[in-house]
Amino acid sequence: MRKWYKYFLDPDGNGKKLLGIDESYEEHSMAMGGYDVSEAYNSKSDFFNKYFFGYHLGRFQCYDEFIRTHVNKEDNILSIASGRSANELYLIEKGYNNITCSDLDISNNMYLATVNLFPQFKFYRLNILESPAPETYDSILNLSMIYLFDKNKLRTFFQNVSQSLKSGGKLVLDSAGSPDNYMSYLIHDCLLKWESVYLLRAKRFITTQKLEGIVVKHHGFRFTDDDIISVANEFGFKLHNKKAYCFLIEFKRSYLLNTLIETIKTAKNIFNIVGKQVPYVRMFYFEKI
Ligand SMILES: C[S@@+](CC[C@H](N)C(=O)[O-])C[C@H]1O[C@@H](n2cnc3c(N)ncnc32)[C@H](O)[C@@H]1O
Repeated sequence: MRKWYKYFLDPDGNGKKLLGIDESYEEHSMAMGGYDVSEAYNSKSDFFNKYFFGYHLGRFQCYDEFIRTHVNKEDNILSIASGRSANELYLIEKGYNNITCSDLDISNNMYLATVNLFPQFKFYRLNILESPAPETYDSILNLSMIYLFDKNKLRTFFQNVSQSLKSGGKLVLDSAGSPDNYMSYLIHDCLLKWESVYLLRAKRFITTQKLEGIVVKHHGFRFTDDDIISVANEFGFKLHNKKAYCFLIEFKRSYLLNTLIETIKTAKNIFNIVGKQVPYVRMFYFEKI
């Protein structure tokens, strides 16, 4: 396990500022760009075009493919950390009629706009680090959340998820970030840091004559597949399948690599192959035994 940091410039600061990991629903919401209610809530097609198709370089469509391969339409399903619930609402449209969404909280605006568009939307508040769900389910989905947890919290997560599943129940989990390995270290802890702290800062200094501050944000944690699988095993989960997706996302965070990928087709093809080392989405299908 390795800590995952992000680096930003702060036009109003001058030194180095350290920010801790997001804890509250408001902080998570901000990290997701604010769970705003836009005009896309006017129709289902607008909603899915804005918040599902192509969103974050196709991340949600990868989730959807894996979920629909492993979860039955008839299952009683709980989604933990649903956020805007774009995947879950898409599943409802595809005939998964028994899905309940949950998260630390939901804004009144987003809840009302979602129910208005999708009357089948069911939601309750659940902090999976504090307790299991109030009932047991056939299947649980958890997408893009465990990067927020260190190993102890990951243990609590698997323990509470296990208690929220029926025997033989399924957990479909996304690793929520690339694995802890040399390549992700080089991208996050060397290249992206270097680009923000030196390159972008120098570029801004040339235009504004001001040396901006640096913000180092503790974004989360990176785990290997084995880290995740061994903690899951501790709590009685058996791995049935896993699949990696989204091989370009980590490279596209870099200004330099993104320029290469967007301008030279061969570079894009090469990064798509090399990127198998740093898939942003790693899906796991576990069964509670
Ligand atoms: C990166 S967002 C992912 C949202 C959505 N699943 C997606 O893929 O876009 C992480 C979500 O995890 C939720 N979260 C963080 N800690 C949690 C916890 N302990 N229990 C339940 N949800 C949590 C946050 O409120 C946030 O909505």
